[in-house]
Amino acid sequence: MSTPLWEARADLVVVGTGVAGLTAALRARELGLRVLVVTKAAIGDGNTRWAQGGVAVVLPGEHDAGDSVEAHVRDTLVAGAGLCDEDAVAAIIAGGPEAVRRLRERGAVFDPAPGGGLARTREGGHSAFRVVHAGGDATGAEVERALVAAASDSRVPVLEGHIAVDAVRTPLGAVCGLLVLDGNGVPGVLGASAVLLASGGLGQLYQATSNPEVATGDGLALALRAGAAAADVEFVQFHPTVLYTGRGARGRCPLVTEAVRGEGAVLVDATGARVMRGVHPLEDLAPRDVVSAAITRHLADAPGGVDDHVFLDATGIPDLATRFPTVHAACLAAGVDPSAQPIPVAPAAHFACGGVVSDVDGRTGVTGLYAAGEVARTGLHGANRLASNSLLEGLVVGTRTAEAVAADLAMGVLARGGGCASAALPVAPVADRDSLQRVMSRYAAIGRDAEGLAVVGSVLDLSTADRVLDTRQLVEDAALTVAARALIAAAAERTESRGCHVRTDFTERDDANWRRSQVVRLTPTGQPVLADPIAARGAA
Ligand code: SIN
Repeated sequence: MSTPLWEARADLVVVGTGVAGLTAALRARELGLRVLVVTKAAIGDGNTRWAQGGVAVVLPGEHDAGDSVEAHVRDTLVAGAGLCDEDAVAAIIAGGPEAVRRLRERGAVFDPAPGGGLARTREGGHSAFRVVHAGGDATGAEVERALVAAASDSRVPVLEGHIAVDAVRTPLGAVCGLLVLDGNGVPGVLGASAVLLASGGLGQLYQATSNPEVATGDGLALALRAGAAAADVEFVQFHPTVLYTGRGARGRCPLVTEAVRGEGAVLVDATGARVMRGVHPLEDLAPRDVVSAAITRHLADAPGGVDDHVFLDATGIPDLATRFPTVHAACLAAGVDPSAQPIPVAPAAHFACGGVVSDVDGRTGVTGLYAAGEVARTGLHGANRLASNSLLEGLVVGTRTAEAVAADLAMGVLARGGGCASAALPVAPVADRDSLQRVMSRYAAIGRDAEGLAVVGSVLDLSTADRVLDTRQLVEDAALTVAARALIAAAAERTESRGCHVRTDFTERDDANWRRSQVVRLTPTGQPVLADPIAARGAA
């Protein structure tokens, strides 16, 4: 059964129920659009709810002396290691205060500061205390709770258990709907003038990740197949501190938020020596790529006889259990009392800094196709995302995208129904997931070289076969396959180390040759190839 058996219609179909998707759906609803949201899991099952640290934002009247929107922009550009788009950074960060105001209006409750206003913490790469948080370290959970409740109050229709397979397009290539599989694997078409991909990241490319099992790069693959471009895909951010639960950890590993270091915890090895001393002027609060790479180097030297984890000493934080209840509970569940013992931690795949090339209004260059949140590459993150800029991006770009869709509809640039080519389930290369995760973790994580990346390519070749994408598992595995191939193509080409892309055979940053974002497109046979790069726009 490869042709659609059922259909529905909306002005805007949103794929994904995290911060970007639900924010966009709510705004679209306010603007009078008929909106339909689809998610392959249950509404709250995405990555947003796992975010701990908070939302980075400079709130008027509440920031420290010396902090400003300009300082937040500066920190973002420094973390992005020369590849951010300065205009996108400025626009998204300037939109933060209004986005947080709207979110609070929708019911999200942030932690108050004792003296009034909102409590603020600091994370790696931030020059000021500007990260607002909720439930101590449960910011994502509160953001998701509030958005899900608001979507329910506003009667936003959500199709749970439906996976997006492919864009449906007009003969001229504009997107006019979405081919999905329902919970029973029955294909259907959601006709729409606009499709917004807000489907999150691709942490499941790796064996150990902070991402839930749904993070399989589906939106990236769908966009590439629809003719969109992706960029910066080689920059996968590894969070420096997920809870180490033993050799060979698999799947979602509990995060130990950077805010723990923001409040004074330090990284030590098994001998008690400080890992970040002498590595960077900000030491334990250096940008995330620097800390993850330093831990990886430290582990390679096997200090103190331990070669797969270090420790986060948070014993000096007096109110650890109340300030960081999620981290505290995860540690206790793993048999570690973080108030009395250092927490065993290791880096794990956390965030895709690249993605579908789109502007700050979500437009991708393919008429009718929009992207927002982690799946998108707006230029905010460059080669390494600044901590707590992702919820911010989802809120700001989610809102702007809904407004862009409404404007594009009003201008008559989107299809208004009809004219769609008939849709059938696509055939795509699918690799074995376990083999893929193993080689990606071994050869394409932190510390890559030409030889290892070639091994990934060979293993993918050997374990890949063309399949009709007629189950959720096949759609996900095809997405991981194309994402892995895109990543290794870009990583092999980038003969330098920059941000999250660390090459052991090209250890230096090479601004003379590499201040540009590599763009990936798909050939008609489904192979990712490098296309014309995007020159960096902004400070080095
Ligand atoms: C953290 O709390 O450390 C993660 C927050 C983020 O990824 O921005």
